[in-house]
Amino acid sequence: MKDYSIGDKTFELYISEAQIQHKIHDLAAQLDTDYAEKDLLIVGILNGSFRFVSDTIKQMSTPCEVEFVKVKSYEGLKSSGNVSVNFFLPAGDYSKKHILLMEDIIDTGHTIQYLIEQIKALNPASLSVATLFYKPEAVQIHLEEKAVAYICFKIENLFIVGYGLDYEGQGRTLNDVYVLKK
Ligand code: IMP
Ligand code: MG
Repeated sequence: MKDYSIGDKTFELYISEAQIQHKIHDLAAQLDTDYAEKDLLIVGILNGSFRFVSDTIKQMSTPCEVEFVKVKSYEGLKSSGNVSVNFFLPAGDYSKKHILLMEDIIDTGHTIQYLIEQIKALNPASLSVATLFYKPEAVQIHLEEKAVAYICFKIENLFIVGYGLDYEGQGRTLNDVYVLKK
């Protein structure tokens, strides 16, 4: 597999499309079990999670609603620590909804913590998080074990692109995931 360049950075293959699809298949089966008979609302976090949400719901048989929220916290290769909301959920009654937040990657954890707080304020019937990637060494905040119930890949503290994840807006269209070369 060829290296991939974005600007002055070079990336090499890290996790293949097949590995990702395999994990998503297992996740979808688990969600079908856990959300059977529940009024499920999937909330994808843009931009990074659009492929993850799309591929997961393709594999699920449980009917659900899908919404997206858009936030930004990353500048280049680093988390800025400040989360800014571009748009959020529409106003409404969420008290009977079981919300599953879907994130591409949890790095410092600031983004997910912020969104957990915002969504808890809507008093949903339940709230859980599914993330495709999780960097245990990078997490800076205390996340309850059960808050992030679904983790597809725990990865090293490295910068990755592909499958929705970007560097300076580029790389999201890659089907495999690439890691920044040292
Ligand atoms: P956190 O707030 O530090 O947890 O960062 C979460 C957000 O930063 C994710 O939703 C991604 O958009 C972005 N991010 C974190 N790590 C990476 C990475 O390795 N590659 C690309 N984007 C990343
Ligand atoms: Mg993101």
